[in-house]
Amino acid sequence: MKAMFVDLYPSTVDSIPFHIIDRPPRVKRCVGFRAACGAVDGCDVTSDPRPAKPAPQAIDTKTFWRALGVRACAVAVVTAQDADGPSGFLALSATHVCADPPLLMVSIDKRTASLAVVLQARHFAINYLPRGEEALADMFSGKTGRRGTDRFASGRWRQLTTGAPILDDAIGALDCKLEDTIERFEAVIAIGRLVDFVSRGDGEPLLYFRGGYR
Ligand SMILES: Cc1cc2nc3c(=O)[nH]c(=O)nc-3n(C[C@H](O)[C@H](O)[C@H](O)COP(=O)(O)O)c2cc1C
Repeated sequence: MKAMFVDLYPSTVDSIPFHIIDRPPRVKRCVGFRAACGAVDGCDVTSDPRPAKPAPQAIDTKTFWRALGVRACAVAVVTAQDADGPSGFLALSATHVCADPPLLMVSIDKRTASLAVVLQARHFAINYLPRGEEALADMFSGKTGRRGTDRFASGRWRQLTTGAPILDDAIGALDCKLEDTIERFEAVIAIGRLVDFVSRGDGEPLLYFRGGYR
């Protein structure tokens, strides 16, 4: 009897390697009595008539950011303020944890200066920038060399409930009381309870997509 082959979707096959750009090769399952390869019924036939795929790549930092470029996200500046003044940084890791209780999180690199301020002040605010604030975003990402309180010389800032700096021109801002921290690898995940917020109600958000602002 002639062997037949049916496609298995990659999601059903645990051993499919991760390919960044190419689709994983389809694996065919032999359902004939005896496959051409001489194997028994029902075996997974991994030989593919197409040329062999390269081995899965290791994900270095550059590749990681290129991969993350597929995710369009709102540009956010995370801020906090202690006795020494305000501190802030560009943070695209800011997102929500859950709605009940109302928790947000931001992953803060251990080298980011604001980490100490967030831990000391026990709060942080997530400020979503409007379109046109690319220069402010660059400054808070360290590109201009301005550090610490100097970064707050640009823009008008105020406070809501926690005392974290809120950008007046922000599309919206989420004011959070620090609830918990999780230290993993080279980062500290700060989890905050939303205690106050502002929403401008108009304007277009500044987005980050494929390595650039949109
Ligand atoms: C697109 C982009 C996203 C970033 N997201 C984060 C982030 O989520 N957490 C973080 O700690 N640093 C993040 N950074 C890096 C900080 O913004 C940058 O290191 C900043 O200069 C830190 O502030 P500091 O110089 O006061 O330490 C990001 C940078 C870029 C360009």
